[in-house]
Amino acid sequence: MTTSTDRPPLHPLFLDLSHRAVLVVGGGNVGVRKTREFLECGAKVRVVSPLFHPAFTPLEGQFQKTERTWLPGDESGCRLVVAATSDPATNRAIYAICSQRGILCNVTDVPELCDWQAAAVARSGRTQVAISTSGGAPSLASHARRELEDWLSDGFSELVEIFAKLRVESKHLLAGPEREHFWKTLPAAELLEDLRREGALACENKIRSLLSSHISATNSDATTPKFGRVVLVGAGPGHPDLITRLGLKVLGRATALVYDRLVSEELLRAVPTSCQMHPVGKTGFGKSHGQDDINALIVELAKAGHLVVRLKGGDSFVFGRGGEEIEACEAAGIPVEIVPGVSASLAVPAWHGIPITHRGLSRSFAVVSGFHADGTEAKIPDVETVIVMMPLHSVDSVKRRFLEAGWEASTPCAAIQAGTTPDEAILFSTLHAIDSDLAASGLHSPLMVVVGKVVGWSSLHRPQTDRILTRGRGGLAG
Ligand SMILES: C[S@@+](CC[C@H](N)C(=O)[O-])C[C@H]1O[C@@H](n2cnc3c(N)ncnc32)[C@H](O)[C@@H]1O
Repeated sequence: MTTSTDRPPLHPLFLDLSHRAVLVVGGGNVGVRKTREFLECGAKVRVVSPLFHPAFTPLEGQFQKTERTWLPGDESGCRLVVAATSDPATNRAIYAICSQRGILCNVTDVPELCDWQAAAVARSGRTQVAISTSGGAPSLASHARRELEDWLSDGFSELVEIFAKLRVESKHLLAGPEREHFWKTLPAAELLEDLRREGALACENKIRSLLSSHISATNSDATTPKFGRVVLVGAGPGHPDLITRLGLKVLGRATALVYDRLVSEELLRAVPTSCQMHPVGKTGFGKSHGQDDINALIVELAKAGHLVVRLKGGDSFVFGRGGEEIEACEAAGIPVEIVPGVSASLAVPAWHGIPITHRGLSRSFAVVSGFHADGTEAKIPDVETVIVMMPLHSVDSVKRRFLEAGWEASTPCAAIQAGTTPDEAILFSTLHAIDSDLAASGLHSPLMVVVGKVVGWSSLHRPQTDRILTRGRGGLAG
């Protein structure tokens, strides 16, 4: 995501300033506000200014006061600096020195001279939500802050306190992944409702009772080895919103994620921050983790008690080797669940307005692989639409096989690269020209070729299927 000014988004973080030195240059309104905020975070605040606003008086003694104009070197040892003097040249000089010394500086109201910006913060109890519009609409950030504060104080921050208290109390009762699993799988939305309806004590008691049932179940099972489980989740064709709701829910509970290259970054952010991340994807024909290594990894993680999510592009059972992973888990006595995914083989043509069946043109379709590790060539099935996956390095032989099977050289084809992602591209051609057109196009993996009359139909109807409402990365456009 980028902002409308094409600056990348700011990186949000919560900074520990307790006992750290920070410098505020300027004794006006902004200076006093920043001093107060930094003091609340436990920072050691230095303020340099020839004059001090009377609002500083109640803070006297809590900060180090230097009554003179700023001098280079005042920033020594500081984590953060705020330049809030009334003289733009001084502010610029402070920023320049901080930049040289690698100290993060904020020049008030000059976004291009800000390494950091304070967020609007919605606070309730120990819960804080920081909001930024990257300077675009600070008034809307304040609006969001008020709304969020209402929501947080309507039970959520109380629930946070209950969780925090019980987590400490029960720490010794459950070990490692078991403990993680318990807290992660608690029905948070339901508990929040209980708390609102029946009060904090009832909610706390409910969690206590869930905890004791969980502990007794764990103990009664103490003699058998504690295995986790594996869930094969199909991530969809690339667009992060084309995963299923169930897939997304399971991701939110993963304690270990084993994922492919074609999986979108957004989905990787859907797992809990404590989740172990294991990328096993391969790039093109480069070195990859062999399937045996992947099988061994998911088994090992599950044996350690993890809830292992094996996240694959599309659907796990469409050229996804999901069956082999089930066999490996079965051999190790590990339970496996499958959450179907939207296979690229069906979704990508649809995304581009190609109906793989259409009355009068196609009553059947097949999905075939262009690439075979063992060097054999798949026969072209007797159907009316064929989706060729992994065709890039075998397009000559794919074309030859179609022609040998009696397909017309003029049959329309579409080569689609990275469908549903920002990198997508489509090339329309015919069986006769697909090899040379593809070579000239520079299209790259992931790529599929769709062959059949329905491709010709779709090219006539393209304007009708232009993506307006659903073109945005985050789901709906605009
Ligand atoms: C090993 S197969 C995995 C297919 C996946 N399990 C599925 O159901 O979509 C990978 C191939 O699928 C095709 N593919 C996957 N995602 C694609 C996309 N977004 N656009 C075009 N082709 C894609 C490409 O041919 C790629 O080389």
